[in-house]
Amino acid sequence: MNNALYKTAQEVLNNNWKNGFSVPCAKLYPFQWFWDSGLIAIGFAHFDMPKAEQEIKTLLDAQWGNGFIPHIIFHTESDTYFPGPDFHRSDLHPLSSKKYKSTGMTQPPVTGFVLEEIYKISKNKQATLKFIQEEIDKVYFNHEYFYNNRDVNNEGLVYIYHNWESGTDNSPIWDDIWKTMNPPEYTFERRDTTHVDASERPSKREYDHYLHIIEIAKEHNYSDEKIAELSPFLVQDPLFNAVLIKSNQSLINLYELIGNNDAKIKQLKQWQEKAIKTFNTKLFDENLGAYVHYDLRNEKQLNFLSSSSFAPLFANIPSKERAETMVNVMMERFGGNNQYLCASFDPTSERFNPKKYWRGPVWVNLNWMLFNGLINYGYNTIATRVKNDTVSIIEHNGFYEYFDSRKDIHGTVNAGYGGNNFSWSAALLIDLLNK
Ligand code: DGY
Repeated sequence: MNNALYKTAQEVLNNNWKNGFSVPCAKLYPFQWFWDSGLIAIGFAHFDMPKAEQEIKTLLDAQWGNGFIPHIIFHTESDTYFPGPDFHRSDLHPLSSKKYKSTGMTQPPVTGFVLEEIYKISKNKQATLKFIQEEIDKVYFNHEYFYNNRDVNNEGLVYIYHNWESGTDNSPIWDDIWKTMNPPEYTFERRDTTHVDASERPSKREYDHYLHIIEIAKEHNYSDEKIAELSPFLVQDPLFNAVLIKSNQSLINLYELIGNNDAKIKQLKQWQEKAIKTFNTKLFDENLGAYVHYDLRNEKQLNFLSSSSFAPLFANIPSKERAETMVNVMMERFGGNNQYLCASFDPTSERFNPKKYWRGPVWVNLNWMLFNGLINYGYNTIATRVKNDTVSIIEHNGFYEYFDSRKDIHGTVNAGYGGNNFSWSAALLIDLLNK
């Protein structure tokens, strides 16, 4: 194990800890983010369990009265971020938290599987199970929110209504959806491009689209029914749904450990069965040999390969045979000699951009899921490559938010992009080094 790197990773996490929660990184992201928070807790669990638990507690404390968990919780005032609480106006929703200001959108629901990971890591299982017992029903309530409000066809797949809900903010997958919209040219002051080079961030015009969807949701006080009816962005995302399915399974496993929760286990199993069945029929693209996004507003698949296409391995969704096809496709398109695994978007596509956020760079969180997914299906050699690639990009550049996928430029120039000292890059490196 690389001890110096491990120690630096711990320092990154400790520096981003704000007494109760962690920021993804200073200045660029100065609040608590949903999926960051969950993944950060996995890192802390290896060396500071009280912080891991507090991170999750604080996140779940911001849950709304309908089970919804927001994507950003604005714990503090900050003028280094746009759009902040005054733009998002979570108070418009009648059941939003009275205690915390937040956004009115969510993010991939990692909390279920995070609780199980923390349990697996824990050296004091009894104490950790007690903590889980106190928190787990909130996570169940969150899943109930999704299936009751966001599965409009009652088919087991939930929608996202904003690209920021996907986590893969400016993926080229959304380009076709932007073409169906013509938002106004808003006037606003971006803050992200004062911290990070604009070539590594979304464009102004993309931000117009992002803000416009929020304006529509706000006009209807973030009503789920109205959003489902009116949002120009309505997508069934394979990463988001795979994360939900993985978390369902973790809730089943944990409730079985806890005991006396038969009704919840039964419900989770029903969701799970329906979800996996529809996932495999609706989101698989036979031509590409992997999973793709489904545009629910325009009723069609979005036929592009991205790192999200392989995330279903993490949740045991594909059959063994299908997994074999996917892994071959991944190695052919994303695994070339000069490519670090795994680019966030198809390196052979003309939309690929190795520097721009989710349009090509490698992300540690997706690599971590891929690593675990490959292990699930017995692809140990390729899993080891994903792990080694992840360690290598961090060793070369530091704990950046994302990294260039082109191998040959690492070592000659800085090939780490976005925020530096980024929490989940540190947290998941710690976890990978333990595996
Ligand atoms: C941002 O500000 O780019 C965030 O990713 C939104 O969640």
